[in-house]
Amino acid sequence: MSTYTDNLLWRYATKEFDTEKKIPDDILHELLEATRLTPTSYGIQPYHFLVVTNAKLREELKAHSWGQGQVTDASHLVIMCTKKILGEEDIDAYIRDMATTRGVTVDTLKNFRDMMGNTVSRMTPEDMELWSKKQTYIALGFLLSAAAQHHVDSCPMEGFSAPEFDRILGLAEKNLTATLICPLGYRSANDTSASYKKVRFPMEELFEFKA
Ligand SMILES: Cc1cc2nc3c(=O)[nH]c(=O)nc-3n(C[C@H](O)[C@H](O)[C@H](O)COP(=O)(O)O)c2cc1C
Repeated sequence: MSTYTDNLLWRYATKEFDTEKKIPDDILHELLEATRLTPTSYGIQPYHFLVVTNAKLREELKAHSWGQGQVTDASHLVIMCTKKILGEEDIDAYIRDMATTRGVTVDTLKNFRDMMGNTVSRMTPEDMELWSKKQTYIALGFLLSAAAQHHVDSCPMEGFSAPEFDRILGLAEKNLTATLICPLGYRSANDTSASYKKVRFPMEELFEFKA
């Protein structure tokens, strides 16, 4: 049985996907569930994900992704969007959800709500969007890691025009912006980059122990 590390060594940023191979529904569900379980600051989850299989839409998006073939060729294209502004209503909705989920009253969460509200309301719109984008990157990590564990290939991608994606997908009207894209599927046998050795700093350079 392969270990967690074996699976991380197996994965790579896939350049060429097999257009014929599709991810089974149960495996896709596992990957999305792992993404859903991402931890975020205060647990606020300031993001939203589109899972795109529509071929015509993907062709249109590819034209704004520097022509990168993964956008059209992978089994599924996940578009990871960030909420641009977090308002009082988002915070209240989250607090209501927490109260219902944990079977407590909203009143018992007042201190937590105020602390979170103070942090968020002090941010400029730019800082808020950046803060939320950071949470979206954590979700990318969870998705990539889960994909590797299920031997589903992936490619994290920032190489696309967010303004064009936002326009095509009507994201701005929904207070969202496309932050990352992640094609998921199965590598093509022709993808020579599958055999590239991983380039990573050595352990002793990367980690410093302060005992
Ligand atoms: C945030 C982020 C953005 C990236 N954008 C692209 C991209 O647009 N196109 C692409 O082919 N690879 C992209 N990559 C893949 C990286 O080049 C790749 O992960 C890195 O070189 C390490 O190689 P490995 O993932 O194969 O181990 C991106 C990776 C990350 C984490």
